[in-house]
Amino acid sequence: MNVLIVGAGGREHALAWKIRQSSHVERVFVAPGNAGCGLDAENVDIAPTDFPRLLKFAHENQVGLTVVGPETPLVQGIADAFQAEKLRIFGPSKLAAELEGSKVFCKNLLRQADVPTADYQVFRDLQRAQTYLRDREDVPVVVKADGLAAGKGVFVCKNRGEALDAVTRIAGDREFGDAGKQIVIEERLDGQEVSLMAITDGRTIVPLTPAQDHKQAFDGDTGPNTGGMGAYCPAPVVSAADLRRIEEQVLVPVVHAMKRARRPFRGLLFAGLMMTNQGPKVLEFNVRFGDPECETVLMRLKSDLAEVLLATVEGRLDQISPLEWDPRPSVCVVMASEGYPGPFKKGFPIRGLDEAAKIPDVKVFHAGTSMQEGRVVTTGGRVLAVTSLGATISSAKLQAYTAIKQIRWEGAWCRKDISDKALHYASA
Ligand code: AMP
Ligand code: GLY
Repeated sequence: MNVLIVGAGGREHALAWKIRQSSHVERVFVAPGNAGCGLDAENVDIAPTDFPRLLKFAHENQVGLTVVGPETPLVQGIADAFQAEKLRIFGPSKLAAELEGSKVFCKNLLRQADVPTADYQVFRDLQRAQTYLRDREDVPVVVKADGLAAGKGVFVCKNRGEALDAVTRIAGDREFGDAGKQIVIEERLDGQEVSLMAITDGRTIVPLTPAQDHKQAFDGDTGPNTGGMGAYCPAPVVSAADLRRIEEQVLVPVVHAMKRARRPFRGLLFAGLMMTNQGPKVLEFNVRFGDPECETVLMRLKSDLAEVLLATVEGRLDQISPLEWDPRPSVCVVMASEGYPGPFKKGFPIRGLDEAAKIPDVKVFHAGTSMQEGRVVTTGGRVLAVTSLGATISSAKLQAYTAIKQIRWEGAWCRKDISDKALHYASA
C-alpha cells in the first residue's frame, strides 16, 4: 500500500517516519512535506487545501490511505472529498471536525453530554459581551474567538480590563475575521495542562499515552504562546485512575454525543485537559494529532501505525491488538528561529544534522525546513523537533539536549527546561 500524508510540520515528519516502518507500506508521500520528510519519504509539491490536486495524485499513485496532519483541510472537508471518490482517508468529516473548528459547537456539545469543562457564555455581539463583563465580578476569564485562528484567538485574562480588550479585538476590530463572529467567555481554570490523544472509529476508542506540551515561549512557562516548544510523554501528572476517569467522563461521552448529533467521529481525537482540584476538565478538542505531542508519542509506539489507522478508517478498530509501547519515556525539544513566535527571517543553512543523527535513541524531526541546493535551510518559526527516548524522563531530556548541541544555524534557540514539570513526580 502507498500512503499519502498531508501537511508539512514535525507532526507530519513523525507520521511519515513511523508509517514508513510498516511492512504493509511501500511508498510514503508527504504533501508538501519538508526537508526531513524528503529524506524519510517522498515530498509532493501540493498544498494541504488543494483538494482537486491531492485527489488526482491519490488516484494516479495507488494511494491506499491518506493521513491528514493539520486541522484546516479537515475543517474544510478533505475527508468528505476523499470519501466521495472512494479513497480511504484517516481524519474526521467536515461536520465532525467542527469539534475543533467551532469552540461554540464544542462547548455546547460538552454541556449536553455533561462532560466536565469550564463554565461559559456565548456572545454574538460586542456590546452584550462588554455588558456581561462589566456586570459580573472581576474574576479571571478566558476569551475565545469561535473559529480557527491559528492558535491566536484565545486570551487568558487576569482581569476585566484584559477581557474587555480581548472582546474588542475579536468582535470590534475583527482581528480574526469571521472566526470572531461568536465569542466564548469562560471561567479560567487552574492546574497542569495535559494532552490526551485517542484514536477512534466512532465506536471503539484507543487512547494513546498522555503527553504534556510546553506552549509558552520561554523557560518556566513564561512569555508569549507558541505552537508548542516541546513535549514529553507519558505525563506522570495523569495517574492510571485519572486516565480511566478521562476515558469515562470525557472520551466516551464525546464519541457518543458526536454519533447522536449525526456527526460520527472517526480519526484522532485530541483532548486538551486541565488537571484541576476537582479533577480533569476539558479546555478544548482538536481533531488531529498534536504537534509536538505526536513526535513524542510516536517515538514510543511499537505497534504498526499504518495498520491501526487503516483499521480505524475501515471501522474495525475493535479487532486490532492492544497498542504496544516502548516502556522508556520520550522528550521532544523544539528548536526555533530567532524572533519566533513573532516575525523571523528564513533561509539560514542548518549545520550538524548528521552529527545529531548519530546520538543514540534520538530522532531529529524537521518542522520548518526545506532543501535548497543540496543544503537544509530554515523556512519556519519552529524548525526542528529533536526527540529522544531515555531510561527516565531526565535521561531522555539529556539525550535530546546532547543532540541539540550538535546543531547550529544563525539565531537558533530552544527552551532549556522541557520536561522539568515532570520532575515533581516520583516516577519520573
Ligand atoms: P484552546 O485553544 O481553547 O486550548 O486555548 C489555548 C490555551 O489557552 C490552552 O492550551 C490553555 O493554556 C489556555 N486556556 C484555554 N481555556 C482555558 C481556561 N478555561 N482556563 C485556563 N486556561 C485556558
Ligand atoms: N501542541 C498543541 C497542538 O497541537 O494544538
